[in-house]
Amino acid sequence: MSELRAKRPVVIAIDGPAASGKSSTSKWVAERLGVHHADSGALYRAATAARLRAEGAPDVWTEQSVLAAAAAVTFVPGKTSFEVRLDGTAADEELRGAGVTDQVSLVAKMPSVRAWVNERIRECALGSSIVVDGRDMGTAVFPDAALKIFLIADPWERARRRLVQRLGRSPSEDEIAVETDDIVKRDAKDATQTQQAADAILIDTTYLTQAEQVDRIVALARAVGG
Ligand code: DC
Repeated sequence: MSELRAKRPVVIAIDGPAASGKSSTSKWVAERLGVHHADSGALYRAATAARLRAEGAPDVWTEQSVLAAAAAVTFVPGKTSFEVRLDGTAADEELRGAGVTDQVSLVAKMPSVRAWVNERIRECALGSSIVVDGRDMGTAVFPDAALKIFLIADPWERARRRLVQRLGRSPSEDEIAVETDDIVKRDAKDATQTQQAADAILIDTTYLTQAEQVDRIVALARAVGG
């Protein structure tokens, strides 16, 4: 039985920019605490993927057509994380692919899509403790979260980590430079959605290992455990 599950339900909100390690860290923290994890970015990606499966170029996408397509998305509790299903099946590769990544910022700017994602995420938190991650979990979605973390890291280091994950080897300086450029552009695209709550604890992970980040957040979570 987890410590958090035995007490009053708490929400741990982890926000931060692209490739700051939010989702992998959140998943690991949730595993350590024995609670579920929900990645709000996966829902924005799923709505985008669902709309891409339908017809029409992105420049003619309306909010209504994205929301209608999103009806094909379900978010079901897996072993640790809530998992996205598109038309009833997992579609992780599609969600992480370039087609979705190129269009997801556009979809994430649509207010009714944001309302749809926020409702799905709040449903996940009903009655049980949860770790949620995204850009606005500690501000728009769970302003009363027991613990709010905002993760940042130097763009060069975020680029290096992302390439190590993607390539499975040490990237060259040139490769990191290209990826850094991409990350800085994505930060700009997502800037309005990325909000650090006034009461969030800022953790700069540039010089931390993932295990160190997780240890810090787990210790903070235990301190607010009820
Ligand atoms: O974290 P990610 O790359 O999977 O996020 C996908 C997109 O969704 C990205 O454009 C940022 C956006 N997003 C958002 O606007 N609000 C959230 N809570 C989570 C993600």
